[in-house]
Parts: sequence; C-alpha cells; structure tokens
Amino acid sequence: MNPKIGIVIGSTRPTRFGEKPAAWIHGIAGKRKDLDFELIDLRDYPLPLFNEPGSPAWGPIDNEVAKRWAARLAGLDGFILVTPEYNHGPSAVLKNALDYAYNEFIRKPVAFVGYGGVGGARAVEQLRLVAAELQMVSVRNAVHIAASDFLGLWRGGKSFDDYPHLAESAVGMLEDLAWWTKALKIARGNAA
Ligand SMILES: Cc1cc2nc3c(=O)[nH]c(=O)nc-3n(C[C@H](O)[C@H](O)[C@H](O)COP(=O)(O)O)c2cc1C
Repeated sequence: MNPKIGIVIGSTRPTRFGEKPAAWIHGIAGKRKDLDFELIDLRDYPLPLFNEPGSPAWGPIDNEVAKRWAARLAGLDGFILVTPEYNHGPSAVLKNALDYAYNEFIRKPVAFVGYGGVGGARAVEQLRLVAAELQMVSVRNAVHIAASDFLGLWRGGKSFDDYPHLAESAVGMLEDLAWWTKALKIARGNAA
C-alpha cells in the first residue's frame, strides 16, 4: 500500500483562490506511482477558534469536529499545505487547524505550495517554524506561486499551463516529499 499524502487547502473564504493551486498540485502529484494523494478541504472541518483546556499534545480534545480532523490526519503519512499569505503569515484558519492536533503530525513530512506577491514565502517560513514544534520534517523544496504568475492566475485569466516552470518546481518538491515520506514511514514503523 502506498503512503498517503493529504493536500490541505489552507483557505476557506467563499471567493478563495486556494482551491486552484490545490487542484493543480493534486493533478501533478496524482501521476506519481509511489504515493497516493487526497485533497483535504478545511471547509469540511469547521473548527472553532481554539478554546480548549489544553494542547492536544497533552490529551484528547473533546470536540466532534476536532475528533474527525484528528482521525483524518492519523491516516496520513505526509502533508502538502497549500497556503495563502495574510499579512505576511499563514491564514488563521490553517494555523488553527494545525493547533487542533498534535500526535497525528509527529514525525511526518510536510511540504508547501505558497501563493501571493512573494509566493507565500513569508507564510511558508512561519509554517516551517510551526512544523518544527509539531515534530514534523519540513522538506526543503517548495512551490512558490509569485508576482506576475500569481496575478495572472488569480485575476488575469491565465491557467497553470501558461507557467510550466511551476510544474518543474512541483516535481522537485514532490521528490523531496517522497523521499522523506518513505524514510519516515519506515522509521516510525521501526520505532513502533
Ligand atoms: C487579510 C489579507 C491579508 C493579505 N496579506 C497578504 C500578504 O501579506 N501578502 C500577499 O502576498 N498577499 C496578501 N493578501 C492577498 C492574498 O494573496 C490574496 O487575497 C489571496 O487570494 C489569498 O488567498 P485565498 O484567496 O486562497 O484566501 C492578503 C489578503 C487578505 C484577505
């Protein structure tokens, strides 16, 4: 059975752009024979703003949506976070979703597709810090949809086919993710 990767759409706004890069990376990733990929829409997990007695690192969260969220994450071997950049950070809804689980992230890899003026680079860098605390491995190569590419896709009527270099950077990111996914799955199995 192939390792399973969740592609998380990091925005829930009604007019979000995020579902476009998520569908695009899903299409490219789906061609791989060594990993399986599934889209995860945070709209399906309407978590309240974190308001629990403690971190999920210390004990289970008594909230039905959080339980469903954690169960979904538990079945995955790695993640691609598709992230917008809001005021130079990730979206609150994505950070909140990360706060709502812990054990389900440990010793799993995470890769990024960022978008925005600078390709979501500042949001991605912040998410790498969060990932370290969640005991995840953030892989080096990321996809950054930036500047005129982002504007073309967002409001300029362009498609991802107009920017083939983005698909090239996706291949590098997926190679990193595949290596770490397999290595960490073996290591988690050995530890168990
Ligand atoms: C609250 C807010 C803050 C934003 N701040 C940034 C920013 O710091 N850098 C950036 O590149 N784009 C910024 N933008 C523009 C977003 O890149 C753009 O709206 C994008 O579509 C957001 O992703 P989403 O549509 O998937 O939610 C901001 C947008 C919002 C709504």
